[in-house]
Amino acid sequence: MISKLQLSLAIIKPHTVKNPVALTYIRNVLKNKFVVIKTKRLFLDKSTAANFYIEHKDKFFFNRLVTFMSSGYIDLHVLGHKNAIHLWRKMLGPTKVYKAQFEDPYSLRGMFGLSDTRNVAHGSDSLTSAEREIKFFFPEFSFYEWHSSNEELYR
Ligand code: PPS
Repeated sequence: MISKLQLSLAIIKPHTVKNPVALTYIRNVLKNKFVVIKTKRLFLDKSTAANFYIEHKDKFFFNRLVTFMSSGYIDLHVLGHKNAIHLWRKMLGPTKVYKAQFEDPYSLRGMFGLSDTRNVAHGSDSLTSAEREIKFFFPEFSFYEWHSSNEELYR
């Protein structure tokens, strides 16, 4: 059966970009498990970070999250896999690092996470958020064109 290759956005957070061991490990994971469709390194300003995380604007940690995400370079990757969203989030492990270390110690957050803020990387949590997030950072990217010209990657 032919099904569409699903896309997800991965954001490698600033403390991970600065950690060569974690970064090399994660790049190998991405290369081996996904089709890496687009990659970009960015230094977010605070207002772009705030815009990206707008759904959390009323959370107590919003300011901390936005300040952290604009504190250094981030790496963005558009990932393709028939189950990209679930697979990347599963590899990340639970959002809360103490939980990841306890419940899934070999997940990326279990191994490299430092705190609820410094929790290694971000992954889109639904098809709708994947589309919004990919468009947010790669406005030139056309889902339609990409799917039409990459049918050989569908499984
Ligand atoms: S929530 O409250 O369930 O909607 O939040 P959650 O999905 O767990 O996390 C959303 C993003 O907020 C980050 N986060 C935090 N940042 C700073 N401090 C604290 N305490 C904190 N708790 C959660 C979390 O890492 C998520 O970021 P992304 O980039 O989406 O992984």
